[in-house]
Amino acid sequence: MNERHTRQRLVAGNWKMNGNLGDNARLLEGITANWSGAEQVKAVICPPFVYLPQVAKAIAGSAIELGAQTVSEYKPGACTGEVAAEMLADWQCRYVIVGHSERRRLQGETDAQVAEKFHAAQEAGLIPILCLGESEQERDAGLALKTIGHQLSVVVERVGIDAFAKAVVAYEPVWAVGTGKVASPEQAEEVHRFIRAELGELGPSTQILYGGSVKPGNAKQLFALPDIDGALLGGASLSAEDFVAICEAAA
Ligand code: PGA
Repeated sequence: MNERHTRQRLVAGNWKMNGNLGDNARLLEGITANWSGAEQVKAVICPPFVYLPQVAKAIAGSAIELGAQTVSEYKPGACTGEVAAEMLADWQCRYVIVGHSERRRLQGETDAQVAEKFHAAQEAGLIPILCLGESEQERDAGLALKTIGHQLSVVVERVGIDAFAKAVVAYEPVWAVGTGKVASPEQAEEVHRFIRAELGELGPSTQILYGGSVKPGNAKQLFALPDIDGALLGGASLSAEDFVAICEAAA
């Protein structure tokens, strides 16, 4: 059961904690000058919070959309240092990454917190990009699907499965993020098919991205897989040439 033709491709660039006003301006210029969009591909840039205004301005009227890298699970109020979903929506963010493995690891975000962030994002009208993925040890122990199934189930229990009609899922094996190692086509397909099955009726229509060392050299092969609908990019999103090449590979 595969309705690939109904699923649009999505390429999202996660700048992580990189950039400055000058470099960003050059990167955005390179992207907007060379990517004018394609009907079946959506391109999204997720800069650090402080650069949202800069990116929003640079991409206005272009084929690029705006996203953020995380969001507070709380409503606006006494929560020092955090950014609420409503504030992201204020800057015309359409997407927000939730549950990235770096935040789970470095900020200690729990599955329950990720579920709250997913909920907060949707409440403000944003589309969460929910990251799921197993560690190397979990894969070696044969626990990849179990881990991913659990991460997903905590969110499903919180928001209900129907909420996935307005969400994107990203499979990002932790061992492939920023390491240059890429999941094999078999490994990626197995997990993507599993996630789709876990989403039940919404499985065939949900966009499921692959993330983890996607580069222009391997994007085409990944996008050729029936259950991969695009990519969540880290390193490659910091080069206009690479970002555009990957958008083109998705088209
Ligand atoms: P990478 O990062 O492409 O640099 O591996 C992917 C991600 O963290 O989303």
